Amino acid sequence: MTRVFSGMQPSGDPHLGNLLGAIALWVAEATHAESLFCVVDLHSITFPQDPRDLRARTLDLTATFLAMGLDPERSILFLQSQVPAHRELAWLLECTASYGELQRMTQFKDKSSRGEFVSAGLFTYPTLMAADILAYDADQVPVGDDQRQHIELTRDLALRFNARYGETFVVPTGVYRTSGARIMDLQHPERKMSKSLDSPQGTILLSDDDAAIARKVKRAVTDADTDVRYDPEAKPGVSNLLSLLAACTDSTPESAAAGFERYGDLKAAVAEAVVEFVRPVRSRRAELLDDPTHLLTILADGAVRADAIAAPIVRRAEDAMGFLLRRGI
Ligand code: TRP
Repeated sequence: MTRVFSGMQPSGDPHLGNLLGAIALWVAEATHAESLFCVVDLHSITFPQDPRDLRARTLDLTATFLAMGLDPERSILFLQSQVPAHRELAWLLECTASYGELQRMTQFKDKSSRGEFVSAGLFTYPTLMAADILAYDADQVPVGDDQRQHIELTRDLALRFNARYGETFVVPTGVYRTSGARIMDLQHPERKMSKSLDSPQGTILLSDDDAAIARKVKRAVTDADTDVRYDPEAKPGVSNLLSLLAACTDSTPESAAAGFERYGDLKAAVAEAVVEFVRPVRSRRAELLDDPTHLLTILADGAVRADAIAAPIVRRAEDAMGFLLRRGI
């Protein structure tokens, strides 16, 4: 069976781009693969964190996965920090990666030029990500296009390790989303909806109430002429609204365009569809967050199952490298 590993950072209030892009797709695919869903909390400390915030966001993302329909019995939902393999393997891979190749990571270059404090962890981030994936013998890793370089590095590290120390790791394949919705910012439809862009009016959050959602959709920028058709190049604003409508109603942007004469009607339909889509997810998430003990129990179960897969793979890598394994393992 194909094993799929997905990771997402608990970086704050999930937005519609996350839900309709990554999460919806992962959950849909979890029915026909052996899937691991990892909340990569260790990746979230490359910049200083407020501990209360990290705790809240971690629970929040866990609840969001479940609210989106992830079945924690079929799939393994867990926290990266609760399974030691990630940290253990990261060091072995830090010593497999070169300084130069980590320096060439565009995400590192971007982020290190922004912050005044550049942690060593920001630099080694990609080796921790490689550890996440290689610790499970994952075949496929669904990620956004921005993660391509990290996946290529993971493959290079697996191949290099295997060449140096003998066949140890499965070389994974990145699965870059071509289907699934690519939701753009409502105010700046030329860029992806994102929390980090500081565009509150262009970003629909899972925590937005119905009125806020409707307001944001109605104020979305449209395009110069007045016809409603799907053409992301010429009509980015309207096309984004059609993508939203399609994603929320399970159709395609092209067919979602049928029957609309005016932007006003389209916006009203989009607002209603998004509100209907978000409402049950939001309320289910709120219910789940009301019972953190239940969430922690699901995560503990996930961690035990993840650990059972990953620990022997890390021992295999240690053994291949020449570490003496503790007797009894
Ligand atoms: N770096 C990924 C991102 O920012 C998150 C991530 C960490 C990840 N570890 C992973 C994704 C392992 C897939 C597999 O989106």
